[in-house]
Amino acid sequence: MRTFPPGPKGLPLVGNLFDMPKSQAWKTFTKWSEKWGDVISVSVFGQTIVILNSVECVNELLEKRGSVSSDRPCMVVAKKWAGWDRVMVLEDHTSRFRALRRLTSKYMGTRAAIASLSHVLELEASEFVSRVWRNPERLSDEARRNAGATILMLIYGYRIREEEDPMLKMADKAMESWTIISLPGAFLVDLFPSLEYIPVWFPCIQWRETATTARKLLDCLRNEPFEYTRSQMSEGHSLSSFTAQNLIAAKTKEEEELVKDAATALYAGGSDTTVSAVCSLFLAMMCNTEAQAKAHDELDRVIGSGRLPSLRDRDQLPYVNAICLEVLRWNPVAPAGVAHRLSDNVILDDYLLPKDAIIITNIWKLMHDATKYSDPLQFKPERFLQVGGTQPEPDPRNIAFGSGRRVSELLLGMHLADATLFIVCAMSLAVFNITKPIENGAVIEPEIEYTNGTISHPHPFRCSIKPRSERAESLLLSLTVIGERDAEVQGLKRG
Ligand code: HEM
Repeated sequence: MRTFPPGPKGLPLVGNLFDMPKSQAWKTFTKWSEKWGDVISVSVFGQTIVILNSVECVNELLEKRGSVSSDRPCMVVAKKWAGWDRVMVLEDHTSRFRALRRLTSKYMGTRAAIASLSHVLELEASEFVSRVWRNPERLSDEARRNAGATILMLIYGYRIREEEDPMLKMADKAMESWTIISLPGAFLVDLFPSLEYIPVWFPCIQWRETATTARKLLDCLRNEPFEYTRSQMSEGHSLSSFTAQNLIAAKTKEEEELVKDAATALYAGGSDTTVSAVCSLFLAMMCNTEAQAKAHDELDRVIGSGRLPSLRDRDQLPYVNAICLEVLRWNPVAPAGVAHRLSDNVILDDYLLPKDAIIITNIWKLMHDATKYSDPLQFKPERFLQVGGTQPEPDPRNIAFGSGRRVSELLLGMHLADATLFIVCAMSLAVFNITKPIENGAVIEPEIEYTNGTISHPHPFRCSIKPRSERAESLLLSLTVIGERDAEVQGLKRG
């Protein structure tokens, strides 16, 4: 008889409940892999969870057996009660999922499609550097604003104008509630779906309130920006956004609903992820001044000091590109991926993986696999360059954005995230020196720690961000009219 993959020995009934890490699960899974190997299984109240710790087993299970490993876990609260089952990221691999993917990938599923959106990415990135210059201590807020502004513009043709933009505030709230309800194991009812039928007067059903709030927020996220686009269309504006283009083509109410859900999926996928990558970039630059200096040299040589870099310069900036790849590898944005579920039994490496098992890809381990990446804990952009006879190490983009049939049909978020990170990185390094802050003559060392959650962010850190030269300062001064207006409203002085 075949056995389940090895793993820590659990207790009767509760299984591995007390072994499950409360934080930074990917680090515990990595330790377990040293003892039990690449495929590990644990069980919590009878629910099998399989953890994949190598690219090879991820390919075997998620790529080659994609027909049975592409659904999402049955999350009663997030999917059924809060309604996120229709928004792609938590939707099973159904024909509706594929229809959503077709819509979205046409708009941003290729590098060529992204090239046609480059003016928006460049505009928002230049606004980001201008705002960070005026308010360096608000770096992570500005990274969040940049991600939200870019997505709202591309998807709905909505331009953020106000300092506290109501649309962005509403969307952030909806995404915060998604983060809470989508965490695997956050609610007992997710493990025991029969609990959803207990009467409302019963104590300990807090989850229903959480789900009701999450559903209301999701309704706002689906409807408010969508209605904005519709009203703009009726006046002849915003016709190039994702929503407008697809609404023009939609013939039925069902097709309109599909457009609405696809737009929400793109907002959900893109609003938090690049924020983490951009904050990691600044953290990495502050801690690795040698890498930053090499990027400065490359930018001075290729671009000069008279203009900001653009996406068209990308092929001429290999070192800046390598920094972006290393940011994705060094501290991955989604270190434990987004869980899949098996829709049938699978035999893998002679082990039985049972139907309905939850599959976790330990992306953090894959990115720090010492057989693939030399000195994996070090930030070393050179690993991705062909220097002399050495071959570049594997491209982390093949892992960072997930694996398997749902993803490989077209790497949906990858092209946009990749281009956004590049342009923010290139423009920031063109104008800033990013260093550790100095207080009373002493350098303040950052704590390099990351938050829990599906999307993991660096803990807040202080960093000194200053124009690299007078020329850089003049470039910053000449940026965006909106930046100017905001500065006046806040009474901020430049420099
Ligand atoms: C650094 C940035 C990003 C990272 C690291 C990232 C990573 C991921 C991962 C790991 C998944 C789960 C894939 C799986 O099932 O295995 C995912 C799904 C998804 N991402 Fe991204 N993503 C990023 C940016 C974006 C952006 C900018 C968008 C769109 C605007 C986007 C849209 C989506 C969507 C719609 C899904 C759901 C698709 C599905 O369930 O298969 N992502 N992403």
